[in-house]
Amino acid sequence: MKSLKELMDLKDRVALITGGAGHIGFSAAETLAELGAKIVLLDIDKAQCDKEAEAVANKYNVETLPLAVDLAKEDKVRLVPKAVLDKFGRLDILVNCAALVGSSELKGWAVPFENQLTDAWRVALEVNLTSIFVLVQACQKALAYSGQGSIINISSIYGLVGPDMRLYQGTDLGNPAAYSVTKGGLIHFTKWLATVLAPQIRVNTVTPGGVFRDHSEPFLSRYLERTPLRRMAKEEDLKGAVAYLASELSSYVTGQNIVVDGGWTAW
Ligand SMILES: NC(=O)c1ccc[n+]([C@@H]2O[C@H](COP(=O)([O-])OP(=O)(O)OC[C@H]3O[C@@H](n4cnc5c(N)ncnc54)[C@H](O)[C@@H]3O)[C@@H](O)[C@H]2O)c1
Repeated sequence: MKSLKELMDLKDRVALITGGAGHIGFSAAETLAELGAKIVLLDIDKAQCDKEAEAVANKYNVETLPLAVDLAKEDKVRLVPKAVLDKFGRLDILVNCAALVGSSELKGWAVPFENQLTDAWRVALEVNLTSIFVLVQACQKALAYSGQGSIINISSIYGLVGPDMRLYQGTDLGNPAAYSVTKGGLIHFTKWLATVLAPQIRVNTVTPGGVFRDHSEPFLSRYLERTPLRRMAKEEDLKGAVAYLASELSSYVTGQNIVVDGGWTAW
């Protein structure tokens, strides 16, 4: 029987993380690099992506590849596996983390429902959901060939439950309908993929609760009041779920959703 250390060893594996220049994507990259994987960071933000790929390489002594790609452009997304295979010759882990989030600057996005625009809704469907359909399809062959293929989709508590809009009253924060809808769709897409891509590729979701980013009052107190563990998440809280689902620690787990939300959805 393998030891825990052997089961979580990702040496010689290659992980592609979309949204790798973002907060949670970077923490996923650090997690998988610490376990020995080579890292491909994909993001629309080229400068940040280059910087973080270099930081991961230096800190964990693993090879990295930054890829500047706009996930809304299907033709560019379809070229991603070739870029990964040209550099590393394999792909074992895909973390779909990029998304338009509540704080994304988009006209008609994080505003009251009556002001939300169909243009913003459509872009969110494209980036948060359709691009994952395209990328998984493009990566399927390489992930299946790996023998340890694992896909991790990053959803949100708002893919599980509706927002409590009282949290947002009197603040400039918002909760767009398309965010919830795409994150809910992703949880279901995980299940669909899990049965269809089995037994070669495992597919699971990680669902974070709100991550603390210097949120101000009164939002912060209202959020904590509603959270059994009485704090917002930090990026570090997601490391365990990502390490578990990416590695052989979870080799008999597919189609599941690990909710890391401090208990937000427990009541
Ligand atoms: N922050 C939270 O509180 C929270 C809570 C639950 C779930 N999540 C989820 O975690 C994931 C990461 O969120 P985060 O908080 O790290 O946000 P973030 O904004 O720091 O990271 C998102 C990244 O996605 C990239 N991106 C956006 N559009 C893109 C496109 N068209 N092509 C390529 N890259 C694109 C951005 O450049 C950014 O680097 C998201 O899927 C989000 O829904 C976040």
